[in-house]
Formats: sequence, C-alpha cells, structure tokens
Amino acid sequence: MCGIVGYTGPRQAYPIILKGLKRLEYRGYDSTGIALLNSGLKIFKKKGKVTDLESTLLGQELHGNIGIGHTRWATHGEPNDVNAHPHRSASGKLAMIHNGIIENFLQLKKDLEKNGYSFKSETDTEVLLNFIEEIRIKNKCNLEEAVRVALNRVVGAYVILLIDEDDPETIIAARKGSPLVIGIGKNEHFLGSDASPMLEYTREVVYVNDYELVIVKPNELILKNLENETITPFVQKLDIELAAIEKNGYDYFMLKEIHEQPKTIYDCLRGRLDAENGTITMAGVELNIEQLKNAPRLIIVACGTSWHAGLIAEYIFEELCRIPVEVEYASEFRYRNPVINRGDVIIAISQSGETADTLVAIEKAKEKGAFIFGVVNVVGSSIARASHAGAYTHAGPEIGVASTKAFTAQLAVLTMVALKIAKEKNTISDERFHQLLQELNEIPAKVSKILEYTEKIEALAKNLKNAQNFLYLGRGYNFPVALEGALKLKEISYIHAEGYPAAEMKHGPIALVDNSLPVVFVATKDENIEKVMSNMHEIKARKGKVISIITENDNLTASICDEFLSVPPSDEIVAPMLSVVPLQLLAYYIGIEKGCDVDKPRNLAKSVTVE
Ligand code: AGP
Ligand code: GLU
Repeated sequence: MCGIVGYTGPRQAYPIILKGLKRLEYRGYDSTGIALLNSGLKIFKKKGKVTDLESTLLGQELHGNIGIGHTRWATHGEPNDVNAHPHRSASGKLAMIHNGIIENFLQLKKDLEKNGYSFKSETDTEVLLNFIEEIRIKNKCNLEEAVRVALNRVVGAYVILLIDEDDPETIIAARKGSPLVIGIGKNEHFLGSDASPMLEYTREVVYVNDYELVIVKPNELILKNLENETITPFVQKLDIELAAIEKNGYDYFMLKEIHEQPKTIYDCLRGRLDAENGTITMAGVELNIEQLKNAPRLIIVACGTSWHAGLIAEYIFEELCRIPVEVEYASEFRYRNPVINRGDVIIAISQSGETADTLVAIEKAKEKGAFIFGVVNVVGSSIARASHAGAYTHAGPEIGVASTKAFTAQLAVLTMVALKIAKEKNTISDERFHQLLQELNEIPAKVSKILEYTEKIEALAKNLKNAQNFLYLGRGYNFPVALEGALKLKEISYIHAEGYPAAEMKHGPIALVDNSLPVVFVATKDENIEKVMSNMHEIKARKGKVISIITENDNLTASICDEFLSVPPSDEIVAPMLSVVPLQLLAYYIGIEKGCDVDKPRNLAKSVTVE
C-alpha cells in the first residue's frame, strides 16, 4: 500500500532514497517524506508526489549517509503534510516510517495520552512510534528491545523503519503482513518494499518474513525473531533487469506493459510449453500432481483483476479437468467460516504476492488442511512463500497500478496447469490437448497483431471519453473479460462501468439503456455468438451504442455494431488473452483523453497490503 526505502552506508542517502521512492511510487502516493541523519535528525515531508517533495528540497542541505523514505497510501488521517511520514517521536530523537495498519492504535493512543503524550498527526503510525519510545524510556532498554516489546503487543500489519539520532548508522526494521526486502552491498545496506530501489546497487537480497526484526548497519545485518532469537539470513540473487522497471520510451508504464504482452506471454510459456512435442513442463504441478488431480474441489481465491483471471480459470478447469471449481473474493472468503475439507486445493492468484486479503485467506485455508497452489508474479513474495507449490507468471515487474500483462500471464499459466491436470486425469483427448497447446503457442503472435493497429482504439477513445457510464457485456469465457474491461476503465478514467453477463441484461439492467450509454460487448466467435447478437439487437432497439470486440472477418456481427475492434480467431479457451487487449487499450486512451495519471490513478495503490 505504500513504498518504503532505507539506506545506510558510505554514499549520500538522499539521492538513493529519492530515486527509490520514485520507483515505488506506484505502490501509493498520497504524500511522501524523507528523514536523514547528519548532525541531527532532519525530516522533510509533504502531501503530493515524490517530485513535489523534490522540488521543495532544491537548495536545501541534504547530506547524510543514513536515511529512510516513504510514499503513503493513507489509512488513518487524510493525505496532508502533517500525516505524511516519516513521523518524529515526542523526544524528537526517533523517526519512523510505516506500511500497514495498527488495528489497536486507539487503545495505545489513549494509554499514551494518559501518560502525557500528545500527537501532531491523526495516524496510527505516530502512536506506534511513541509507544516504542515510551517502552524504551520505561524499561530503560535499547531501541531494538523496545521495538520487540511493542510489536509483541501490537495488532495489525506493518513494515516499520526506525532511525535514532543517537545511533546515526543503524536502521531498525520489522515486518508483519507488508513486504520488506534488504539489499546487501559492500559496507552498505538498502531496504525497500520491493527490490526496485536497490537493483542498480546490488543483486543480493534477503526477503524478511513476518514476525522478523532486522538491525541494519553499513557493515552488519542482524536478523532476529520477536523472541530475540538470531536467524541466519537467506540471501537470494535477483534476476530482474533495470530496464524492466524503466519506461523505455513509453509515456506510461501501463502502455509499456500492455505492449510487453507478446513477450511476457511468451516468457510465461517458455521452458514450459512444447507444442511440437505435445508437452507442458511445470515442476510445481508435476511434483504435486496426485494432490491436484484428486482434488475433490478447487477453490480459487484472489482480488480484483486476479479474481477475474480466476473466473476464467473456473470455466477452463471445469471444462478440461471436470473438477468442481469455486471462485472466491479473498476478502469475503477470509471473513466467512468456509467449509474446507482436507484434500481441497486452493489456487491463490496474485500479481504482487502481497495482497493482504489473499494472504490471510490462504493462511486460514492452510489451517483447515487445504493444499495451496500459488499463481504469483513477484518472485519471493509473501503469497509465493506461503504456498505449498505454485507457478510464477514471469511477467516481470508490473509498475502500472492497473494490472495488464500480469492478467494475461495468469491466464497462460492457469491454462497450462489445467491442461496438465486434464492430461493426467484423461479428461481431455490427445487431439484436443495438442490443439490447445498449439493455440497457446500462437497467442504471443496474435497479441502482437492486435497491438499493430491501435489508431482505431485511440479514435474510439476520443469519441467515448465524455460518457458518464458504460456497460460491458459478455457470455461464457467472455463474461469475466467484460468484468475486467469494466474494471480497467473505472480505475484508469474514473468513469463508472459495470460488467455483466449479456444474458442477464433482460433481468433488469436493460432499463439503463438509452442513447447516452455505450455498451461494450466482448463478442469473439464461440457457441454463444448468435445469442450475443440478439443481445446487441436488444441494445440497439433502445438506442444504446454498441461497441464490440469481435473476431476478425466476422462481418455478420460487425454489421450490428456501431463500432467494432477485431482480434484474430482462436479457441474460446484462450480467446480472453486476446479480447482483453483492446479493452486495456481503450481504458488507457480514454484515461489519457481525460488527463488522468494512468500509472497512478487517484485513491489506488499497486499492492493492497491493508485489509
Ligand atoms: C487491477 O488492475 C487492480 N490494480 C487491482 O484490482 C488488483 O488486481 C488487485 O488489487 C489484486 O492485486 P494482486 O493481483 O497483486 O493480488
Ligand atoms: N497506516 C499508516 C498511515 O495511514 C500507513 C499507511 C501506508 O501504508 O502508507 O499513515
């Protein structure tokens, strides 16, 4: 939900932290701030984006070899200069940044106020900081011990970074429920919400786990648990290229990531799909194939766009594997008391691998004996590490808040997993199996073909940008694509859009239709196409504007539409990886037409690590 960066070592901390915050800003950007230690504790913070803070700091004295920085996604207290992080403790000696939510902060605040503390901000973070300071004073202990005692009494999610004016080379950090990566340099250490702030300095990283605490100095990294037991850090090598987190000439990351899809889908298939020899290699599936093929039920848990991928996976798994599938919003699943039986398989889908609702949902399912299979993009992320097995989507870092390339990569992985299980269960003929492998193999080239002609989509966006509401309709495999198209438009352009099963229109929503309502049909050729054409006529009869995603050369369907965008023909099972692309572009260009910041839409953050 927010970005955190820290540095301690021989270099100047400010430029490292500033660039790191810019890389993490997609994670949350209500306000931003930096604290530096150099003959005293200096804190600079304000509402707005990193560049807004940067411009106010021009000409200021910003020296210091240790510092922490934060981009905020507010949970307690509106986005303003006072609620921005870092926060300073009552003594003035400590500075802290925090990602997450302290759920019992009100009780802590009341107790502190009884002891004479007052607060400048409305945040839960400032309460935690002064709780730590009060413990250090009362118990006459060091800061590390005070942090440990405090965190044992805190309820909620956190990553915290603390610096102390009286210890000008040490950063103390801890995590529970929000991500923290430590980069290991030569006599220097980097800290970040993900690896992007440290990529150009080091490839060696340690992913900190929940309930762990780190003491970081330029030439020392001590990892402990909250019981004060020392843990040996597990150092891993990063395989992300710097170019992967730069825009490389595109105006926005979102556009870059849409255009990366031929490559990212290819990367997802590479080393796994061999259409020529008719094989799919996925160790995570093969090593657990008995568990997967004998599952009495598959429960898919996810949020947002990943949940839409789950809906498509439901159709695929039930058609190919004949296993009953349930798709659950992770945020609902975790608060119910779901019936989960031993042997049930949970498929957790997440781009970031840090979505709190999904993470907690799988932890609860694990407690009930379920087997967790993770489909995740960020290597080493919490959901990946909490799963019993899984398959990475290999889409590379997805910086744009609106998920695009991760979605199509999720579909590619889920289709391969379903094909492997169906093959094992003999619920698919050899001919169909080979046909679908070939269909998958052709997807990257077909996506490239769609991306060659975006002028028509740009023109359509200009015509549609003033609409106040949209409907997105589809049947079968195209229904979840309609939901995804609607979500893209909402989150990028702030225009209300609703995805709906096309057949459901007559049960109420058709009352919305008039000449001001654009209706987007996802209408690639499949067994439902005649019925979808009837739905189009129903909309036209009520003066609705019909815009459709159709299969190339489907002139009959095209003849009904006011506007249409074509995609290459494909089997319905893989068609969503094609039909979603024009919808991603339509949302992007409408957002641009409306002057929106399509990489950092208002109120949103890339990784929702709060519940
Ligand atoms: C999608 O465009 C949104 N940014 C959001 O719905 C996202 O899909 C959701 O928060 C789930 O994120 P995850 O895939 O990282 O778990
Ligand atoms: N709960 C803290 C606040 O509202 C941190 C939010 C965040 O993760 O950015 O300031």
